[in-house]
Amino acid sequence: MTTEPEETADEVGAETTPDGRPRRGIRSFVVRAGRMTVAQERAWAELWPSMGVPEGEEPLDFDALFGRSAPRTLEIGFGNGESLVALAAAHPERDYLGIEVHRPGIGHLMLRCEAERLTNVRALCRDAVEVLQRRIPDASLDELLLYFPDPWHKKRHHKRRIVQPAFVELVARKLAPGGVFRMATDWQNYAEHMLAVASQCAALSNESATGDYVPRPASRPVTKFERRGHRLGHGTWDLAFRK
Ligand SMILES: C[S@@+](CC[C@H](N)C(=O)[O-])C[C@H]1O[C@@H](n2cnc3c(N)ncnc32)[C@H](O)[C@@H]1O
Repeated sequence: MTTEPEETADEVGAETTPDGRPRRGIRSFVVRAGRMTVAQERAWAELWPSMGVPEGEEPLDFDALFGRSAPRTLEIGFGNGESLVALAAAHPERDYLGIEVHRPGIGHLMLRCEAERLTNVRALCRDAVEVLQRRIPDASLDELLLYFPDPWHKKRHHKRRIVQPAFVELVARKLAPGGVFRMATDWQNYAEHMLAVASQCAALSNESATGDYVPRPASRPVTKFERRGHRLGHGTWDLAFRK
């Protein structure tokens, strides 16, 4: 089950992010300390140069980044990359860009891509909201995935949830016509929030036949963490909105 990121007064109140960038506005994440394994350190040293998107402010040229022109999926907050790897392995004809701020998770993703010899995955280490605002060209994505975002379940923390009206408008701008925004959560209250916020976006229409949730898409791999949630009796809510 998705649990709250650990929040310390230092991290939340800090003027700069752990890598020294100025902190702007309310963030949907707290960078977890999490130690890097030796293998993940190696991934950062050896695999990041080919799989990682270098820092910068300029809009991304996807064809140059992947060395071809193919349908594109962006996953925000991929964790350890379990879904991204499964999707990229199942769909070699598509390209996958993942954004995450947890460096050990990015290391894990790169190791799995190396083991499976995947060439259609790239990763970016930065706040996804900034990446969307500055680096993703408008109408450039065929699919945007937001699976099990941090729920920030305490009411006073709801403002930290990544799904907010301005975020959904930004997502809609980045989707190509016909592109799909998929979300999943195991917190009913966050599912209801996602549904209410996304339904207000005039550029998107709900794919649900019942006007609320959709069945789990066959394309969404069930992760280890979701299986554990099911064993504990938690539900999962899937949403899909098309531009
Ligand atoms: C609860 S975890 C879920 C991970 C994964 N999607 C899964 O289903 O297992 C949420 C992840 O989103 C990442 N995250 C939260 N806000 C983010 C943001 N603004 N930019 C990039 N990553 C973010 C966190 O670091 C965390 O790894």
